[in-house]
Amino acid sequence: MDYSKIIQEIGEQVSAENDHGNVADYIPELAFVDPDRFGIYLLSNDGTGSGWGNYEQQFSLQSVNKVFALSMAMALKGDKLWQRVGVEPSGNPFNSLVQLEYESGIPRNPLINSGAIVISDILVSALKNPQEEFLAFVQELTQNKDINYNYRIANSERDWGFRNAALANLMKAFGNIENDVEEVLQFYFNLCSIEMSCKELAQSVAFLTHKGMCPATNKQLVSTKQSMRINALMQTCGFYDEAGEFSFRVGLPGKSGVGGGIAAICPGRFTIGLWSPRLNAKGNSVKGMRTLELLTERTGYSIF
Ligand code: DON
Repeated sequence: MDYSKIIQEIGEQVSAENDHGNVADYIPELAFVDPDRFGIYLLSNDGTGSGWGNYEQQFSLQSVNKVFALSMAMALKGDKLWQRVGVEPSGNPFNSLVQLEYESGIPRNPLINSGAIVISDILVSALKNPQEEFLAFVQELTQNKDINYNYRIANSERDWGFRNAALANLMKAFGNIENDVEEVLQFYFNLCSIEMSCKELAQSVAFLTHKGMCPATNKQLVSTKQSMRINALMQTCGFYDEAGEFSFRVGLPGKSGVGGGIAAICPGRFTIGLWSPRLNAKGNSVKGMRTLELLTERTGYSIF
């Protein structure tokens, strides 16, 4: 399969298509991004990579980082994790509060905001220096010590993060947050603010197509079973109330973020990082989803 040619052709086709969608502005600092940036990087399991467009420019990963937080928490806590967070798709927007009240403060899954806040609480309890250790984990995945938090974006989110504060306080009231709410939220805002390029993103999720082993270091980060389960959660919950549509059109485990990034896994074959900041009404990258739809159509590779 000539991935390089395919990526180039799809990149050109999608960039020529009509622009629609809007950049996220509910975090004021995110609104300053150039809406027309568009990058793709596919990393094949044999180690060869193919990039197109702005694939080397870093952007705000936002919720894509939830995959790394989940992976670290699974490695540390194993199956105990599932006492505090579920594994069902929510069918609701990523920042919705409604189910939490009905379901006694147990989030539907770790990839919606409430679930990632519980995961943040678990990491704050389990790690000695949560912020430093989480960043070191992400840096190890990419083998790049320059990967960092963007505190401008994290603080901008904190200043407007009323919904996340509501989610965290509601879960605290139900006894599902152990630590100080402010400390947990700051960890969560910081983790969302990590920046990467499409190339780094494809590298960082490569352990999920190598049965949990990071190909850059040969280190087993999560077990094979855990890697399969992370893929399963990405497949069923990675696009919130658009997870069905993403499965239907693309058919790969994936995770989106409101910065316009998407990471997707084709198990046993490749990982791919995409970035285009214009989002649809559900908060997912329009061009990113379209690119993946064309890619699975063209290659015939999906999990189905
Ligand atoms: O908590 C938030 O609202 C953001 N830090 C992350 C949201 C996000 O990326 C949802 N993804 N589509």
